[in-house]
Amino acid sequence: MIAERTEYEVSTDATRLDVERVHRWLSEQSYWAQGRTRDEVERSLARSVSFGVYCGGEQVGFARVVTDEVTFGWLCDVFVDEEHRGRGVGKLLVEAVTAHPTLGRLRMMVLATRDAHGLYEGYGGFHAIEKPARWMVRRATASDEARHGAT
Ligand SMILES: CC(C)(COP(=O)(O)OP(=O)(O)OC[C@H]1O[C@@H](n2cnc3c(N)ncnc32)[C@H](O)[C@@H]1OP(=O)(O)O)[C@@H](O)C(=O)NCCC(=O)NCCS
Repeated sequence: MIAERTEYEVSTDATRLDVERVHRWLSEQSYWAQGRTRDEVERSLARSVSFGVYCGGEQVGFARVVTDEVTFGWLCDVFVDEEHRGRGVGKLLVEAVTAHPTLGRLRMMVLATRDAHGLYEGYGGFHAIEKPARWMVRRATASDEARHGAT
């Protein structure tokens, strides 16, 4: 357990995660991971530091950081159960990530968001990338999928 506020508790204990629920949130309700398979979710969790938020023994929030735990982290898959939104769970998650003894000291942590900039700016100290022209991204294409096959 790494943070507690009112009825909510944040934990990085991977064995507590409700993977079925996380998969449902991401694959059915998120705008960025529609259709992500259960196997893909499990493999992504195995390579991340995951944060779960719990209320009365039930998981109500999730976030994970893909990281080398020294220089770089990618904060992603931030999700709060619809019934618990607007009660500070998202803030609790972002604060827990940035207060984490290792992740809070990463040289750089990045994220992408459609509309929640204020959450990360206000409660995590994130800001827009200063020189976006220096950044590049590669996305897998249909031909990559065909070339490498399903993993
Ligand atoms: C975004 C989300 C994680 C916020 O969690 P939450 O528990 O509802 O948010 P909180 O109650 O902790 O409050 C969020 C704070 O960030 C601000 N905020 C900025 N952008 C926001 C957004 N798009 N949605 C919700 N809050 C937002 C709120 O105004 C609030 O700050 P304030 O109290 O100072 O006004 C949650 O709404 C969610 O899971 N949405 C669906 C998935 C999603 O969009 N995830 C984020 C992907 S980047």
